[in-house]
Amino acid sequence: MKRVFLETYGCQMNVADSELMAGVLERGGIELVDSAEAADAVLLNTCAIREHAEQRVLGRLGDFARIKRTTNPRLVVGVAGCMAQHLRAKLLDHARVLDLVVGPDGYRDLPELLRRAAGEPVTQVRLDRDETYGDLEPRRGGGVRAWVTVQRGCDKFCTYCVVPYTRGRERSLPLDDLVRQMRHAVAQGYRELVLLGQTVNSWRDGEHDFADLLRAADAVEGVARVRFTSPHPSDFSDRVIAAMAECERVMPQVHLPLQSASNRVLEAMSRTYTIEAYDALVRRLRAAIPGLALSTDLIAGFPGETDAEFGETLAYLRQVRWDSAFLFKYSARPDTKAFRIPETLTEDEKTARLERLIDAQHRISGEIHDGWIGREAEVLIEGRGRKEERQLFGKSAEFKTVILPDDGSAPGDLRRVRIVGATPITLFGEPVDAPRPGPLVSIAG
Ligand code: 5AD
Ligand code: SF4
Repeated sequence: MKRVFLETYGCQMNVADSELMAGVLERGGIELVDSAEAADAVLLNTCAIREHAEQRVLGRLGDFARIKRTTNPRLVVGVAGCMAQHLRAKLLDHARVLDLVVGPDGYRDLPELLRRAAGEPVTQVRLDRDETYGDLEPRRGGGVRAWVTVQRGCDKFCTYCVVPYTRGRERSLPLDDLVRQMRHAVAQGYRELVLLGQTVNSWRDGEHDFADLLRAADAVEGVARVRFTSPHPSDFSDRVIAAMAECERVMPQVHLPLQSASNRVLEAMSRTYTIEAYDALVRRLRAAIPGLALSTDLIAGFPGETDAEFGETLAYLRQVRWDSAFLFKYSARPDTKAFRIPETLTEDEKTARLERLIDAQHRISGEIHDGWIGREAEVLIEGRGRKEERQLFGKSAEFKTVILPDDGSAPGDLRRVRIVGATPITLFGEPVDAPRPGPLVSIAG
């Protein structure tokens, strides 16, 4: 077992977990390669949040079955992550091609598991209340942004969500470990730290709360920007709002999942807040942090959602005016509480509701972006445009993608631009300052 091809599906947490796995594999003497054809083993880090995510992975396993049948019968095929934990041994029966099923708490022993899986099928799906991987250095993927997992698991048990079952109980990494990791990432050349957790603002390590963690991140020498995702509305304390307002490097941007604006539906989802409480929080945030950009997650077509209840979500979307939104159709997940509530809408009806949300949000995002024209923004340069070679792209403080002419700025540089054009997705800027190089260290790759 010398070469592994690792492929990642799903959320940012999985991207960070893959970096953790990459670190464990490399320290175990295993090289990471970038194709299945060049590998002794392939490992898919998977997502279970919606049915579609699992179907994609099952489809991909077909590709590896083909490689096994034709060119490399000894290829070890492994599934890691939430889908592995969700389906457990069933996955081995279901997808005959599989040699390894490893859940989110089994990554510490990955090299050993892969070696064993070369001999016989292996399942490692024990959840471990204490595993945080806090002592393990991830092998980060390059770029300007370092993902820092500060918390694992989730205790909220929203009735539609499989995550508490696939990732287990909420655990926070200790502040010391996190400060060490954050300093290390910045010393490697990463400019932006993104603190990750399923309900990141409930982070606590016995002595410190999330406000303390934000202040510690802001104080890491050399860091340009700090963000976090995703907070839960019920855990958003005034201490955290004050830390955001006071810390210069904590960016004016919050992704604040709402899910539904109907109190009846929120209750059925076990979201633990009302729309009035969410809206009051938005007002407190906007009052404390000028220019705050807000985004959200919404689910269309939760079982029993009436036309009127859906209408409340649509009306609130128009009222609150999030900068952007991730919009999902409800997907029934086995093991969750909502799975037992009979669905009342057809797939077409759910799609129709989703499309109404998409249309309305698209219009609002467009209006908000048009409002940026003529204003200045600060862009952290990430790289060259994929389509247009002579363009640079990066993110504004508000986490908006900005495209600007290539004037020789390098990834990691901060540029002030005037916004001269906009679409609902992207802003276009012209630099108004001279190039201001970032620190002369290489971005880890
Ligand atoms: N169906 C649809 N969307 C879901 N999400 C979580 N579970 C489901 C589900 N069963 C969405 C929520 C969450 C985001 C990460 O995914 O909006 O905030
Ligand atoms: Fe899922 Fe709710 Fe936990 Fe988010 S807070 S991971 S939606 S259970």
